[in-house]
This record gives sequence, C-alpha cells and structure tokens, in this order.
Amino acid sequence: MTPETLIGTAVDLGIDKDPRGRRALEAKLKSRKERFRDLPRADQSRYDVASLSNPFGDTRLVVNGQGVEIESLLIGIDIGPEEVFLGDKLKKKDGTSPMIISHHASALGKALASVWDTIDVQIHMMKEAGVSSEEADRVTRELEAVKEKNRIQGNPRIIQRAEAADIPLASIHAPADLYAHAHIMDKVTEFEPTTVAEFLEVVGQVKEFQGLPDKRRVPRLTLGSTRAPFQPAYFSLIGGWNPLASGIEVLAQAGIQTLVMIECHAELSRMARKHGMNVVLLPHYPYDSLGLNLLLDEVMSVTGESFQIFACSNYLRLERNNRGEGETWK
Ligand SMILES: [Fe+2]
Ligand SMILES: [Fe+2]
Repeated sequence: MTPETLIGTAVDLGIDKDPRGRRALEAKLKSRKERFRDLPRADQSRYDVASLSNPFGDTRLVVNGQGVEIESLLIGIDIGPEEVFLGDKLKKKDGTSPMIISHHASALGKALASVWDTIDVQIHMMKEAGVSSEEADRVTRELEAVKEKNRIQGNPRIIQRAEAADIPLASIHAPADLYAHAHIMDKVTEFEPTTVAEFLEVVGQVKEFQGLPDKRRVPRLTLGSTRAPFQPAYFSLIGGWNPLASGIEVLAQAGIQTLVMIECHAELSRMARKHGMNVVLLPHYPYDSLGLNLLLDEVMSVTGESFQIFACSNYLRLERNNRGEGETWK
C-alpha cells in the first residue's frame, strides 16, 4: 500500500463516520472544486489541492516518500524529531519502509491545513443539540478567530528530517477521532445510560480506558453529580477544539445537561458551573488511541493488507479481532 492509498482510505472511512453525513461532505468538496476552477492560474498553483478531495483540514500527507510501499507504521499522538530518528533507525535495521503518522496535526505544522475544516462540524452538532443556526454559526466563527490567531506553527525540523530520510510522514486526526466518537455514541445507543454514573460505567468498559493505573487516564466526572440525569448530553469529542465559553452558554440555554469532553479549562468549567451542568472528561491519549485503533483495524480490513505497527508517543495499540473473538494489546 502506498502512503496516498493509506491516507485516502482513512479519509474515505472517516467521511462515513462524520455526523454531517457523506452527502453533505461531498457537496462541500464539489463547491470547493467549482471555486477552484474559477480561480486565476497563479492562485490555483498556491491552492491546497488535497482539500479538493479531503474535507478534513487536519489529515494530510506531508512527506510522500516517493512511491514507497508501506510495510510498517510508526504511530504516535504527537510526533517529534525523535520519532523520525527512530523511523530512520528501523529503516536501516531491517530494510523495511516505515511510514510515520502523527495523530495531532499541530505537531507537523503544515499538516493543519485548515482550522475551519476542523471546526465547522460544531455548527452541525450544536444545531442537532437544539441551538439555532445563527447562534451556532456566531459562536463557531468566534472560536475560529481565536484558534486561527493562536495557531501553532509546528516544527519544520520534523518534516525536514523525514524528507532527508525519505520516510513518508502524515497526520491522521479527524478520521480517528470520528471513529472514537462513533464508538462512544454506539455504546450510548446500546446501553441508554440515564444517569451520569451509568454513563461512566458504560465508557469505563472501553479497553483503552483501562490501560494504565492512573486516575487521569480513566473517564471521570469533574463537575456536577453522578446521580444527575445524563441526557441531554453534548459530546465535544471531534474536530480537536472545544467550544468557547460562549458556546457552552448557548448549549446550556438549549437545555444540555452534560458535557462530555477530553479537556475542560477553567473558563469553560466556570460557565458549565454557572448553568449547573455536569462535565465528564474522557482520558485524552487513551481516547486518541481508541480512534486510531478502530480506524487502523478498519483500514486493514477493507484493504486486506496488514502492516506491522510500532506504537510510540503516548499511543497504545489494541487490535480488535474483526471476527469478534477478542482484543489484544500489541
Ligand atoms: Fe484526537
Ligand atoms: Fe488529542
């Protein structure tokens, strides 16, 4: 499998798990292509052409590796220069070509091609939660302005090292988080937790959340009561950004009782407290690992190809047997 096929397959699978639906995302790509066609040549040459077939601004192949066939993957949540060095060692040791994948696009700088692509799913989710179109659009635009201003430039040394070592390098963010989100939503649909305690019990069954004996690595309630009703809940688990405090306020006004998140900083917490909401945090790296694990299992299943996986940088590999016969930590 080539690096392009791997990324293309991950993107295609991610589209099927996106709450906006395949048709909405394909319509978005179609109008993007029409706008691209009308651009002057000079602007076309500077255009991020990957965005014409990939709706996820945080999932990009940044070093192609000149047509290599992938035999192994070196995957981490945040890839740094050390992991590229490790990839080069692996390549020299057994002559196979590893491809390096970072979950967080911010680690690779130009892999985060579009902040808006990662944020606009929130408009859809807020509307589903009962927020008006105008309010959802307003608070999401505010979030975009803040995130674009504080955008991390990333580390060009990682890309330069991968180019020098001729090792393919990519980020896979949205498709993995979409898989983890869909998994959590499936569990909620299956078990229908009515209280916060019941929800904690349901997500506590996820194997990735049991991996390490560290209380920050298990699902936990940081605000509210375990006896409180769980629904209506808002799941801020995709896109990589939480709403701003103004977003939490409009969600509270729409009747949301529980926020399920990965991180919740003080300002959001204050707003949630003001409105008497519950806040449940899912552990960050285990959640990212869950998404990558489900996605990689699916990539191997649909392509019929398997590759050796080296887990690094806070990623924990757990392989689920597609025949339902169990799970194995690798
Ligand atoms: Fe993630
Ligand atoms: Fe993350």
